[in-house]
Amino acid sequence: MSSSVQAFRGRFLHCLANPAEAAQEAMAYFEDGTLLVENGHVVSLSHTSNTELPSGCVLHDFSGKFIVPGFVDTHVHYPQVDVIASYGTQLLEWLETYTFPAEAAFENPETANDTANFFLDELMRNGTTTALVFGTVHKESVNAFFTQAQKRKLRMICGKVLMDRNAPAALCDTAETGYADSKALIKQWHNTERLGYAVTPRFAPTSTNEQLAKAGELLTEFPDVHLHTHLSENIAECNWVASLFPEQLDYLSVYEHFGLLRKRSVFAHSIHLSHNEWSRLGKACASVAHCPTSNLFIGSGLFDMRAAQRASVLVGLGTDVGGGDSYSLLRTINEAYKIQQLQGHSLAPEQAFYLATLGGATALDLQSYIGNFEPGKEADFVVLDTQATPVIRRRCAAAHDWQSTLFALMMLGDDRCIQETFIMGEPSKSTGELDR
Ligand code: GUN
Ligand code: ZN
Repeated sequence: MSSSVQAFRGRFLHCLANPAEAAQEAMAYFEDGTLLVENGHVVSLSHTSNTELPSGCVLHDFSGKFIVPGFVDTHVHYPQVDVIASYGTQLLEWLETYTFPAEAAFENPETANDTANFFLDELMRNGTTTALVFGTVHKESVNAFFTQAQKRKLRMICGKVLMDRNAPAALCDTAETGYADSKALIKQWHNTERLGYAVTPRFAPTSTNEQLAKAGELLTEFPDVHLHTHLSENIAECNWVASLFPEQLDYLSVYEHFGLLRKRSVFAHSIHLSHNEWSRLGKACASVAHCPTSNLFIGSGLFDMRAAQRASVLVGLGTDVGGGDSYSLLRTINEAYKIQQLQGHSLAPEQAFYLATLGGATALDLQSYIGNFEPGKEADFVVLDTQATPVIRRRCAAAHDWQSTLFALMMLGDDRCIQETFIMGEPSKSTGELDR
């Protein structure tokens, strides 16, 4: 009888803890290791290729290639695939000029379906296996997204945008309809297979007090859903929030006041924060999504990684496509490194790798399912090719240990380095055209 166990051989690297907190024990690297997978879950990871394999077990030999956990994108907008790389403007004008018109097209479920297909394929092509994703205000945008994610067996979190003011009429819901539509989506999709729901007020300026209060009600009714929004991305946005909510102490207070600051709340950007706001984020066990490509592309500012670490705030990386100009977490790490360099701090390769894998999973509170190769975890992983381009091949050949090879890959790499992406132990690239 043939075994359902599959074996994978390669250079395994994963995190067991946050390197910033447990430098010695955080990383595990096996130059020539063996991963056993059964029914989509990790059975074991051994440090040797001499492991005796169960009879009938299929061996996938990636000797010499890095095998790492699938990347986690903690903030991205699937309806913005056609907005990526739009010229000029900073945040508020960028939203009016490019983003809102693009999102209006999602009234058509066919647009939503086609875009979700493209988006999810692109994520997997870039080695991203889990993401926290904005839909549009249209309920159907989330139905289309979850339908496509489910077909691919992906672990994904998504939510319908709540937006009842300061946006075009065609993109506005109301406090009541936003609540009712979100609730229906939670009932239909939340915890269905690998899917989860995020209550998604776009950002404070586009929701009334009534709508933010309703978002808080949803979190009380469904405590294990996520909260996903933007916070303190751009100075003009922060000033606008201060004028719209004069009764609140600061930007974070707006969310805090309505019960939106808690564990499983993910705040994208979080650039222009006071010491006091950092401290409250940490105490609440909330998370931030650092989106370096977007912060540079839209010109929003420099994220303070050390302030986040000092306040023990959970941090993940977000591509923020279409504000960000790449789907690749490798490109995202590259820009994250430069943003810290500009502030006199060199982001360690182990820390950057953690942010894209176990750190991202932890920021989404999914660390018991994904993020590394611990036994029992879901077998989402990526094969990285250190020979993908002449420059990468030459630079990696000159690297003398796994740390410098990893750093070179993260600085020079992109989708060309993703040889294969496995979802629950199955290759994703060769699934071919799904039934669409
Ligand atoms: N703030 C409010 N909406 C958005 C958005 O769609 N993208 C970004 N980057 N920031 C936002
Ligand atoms: Zn965003």
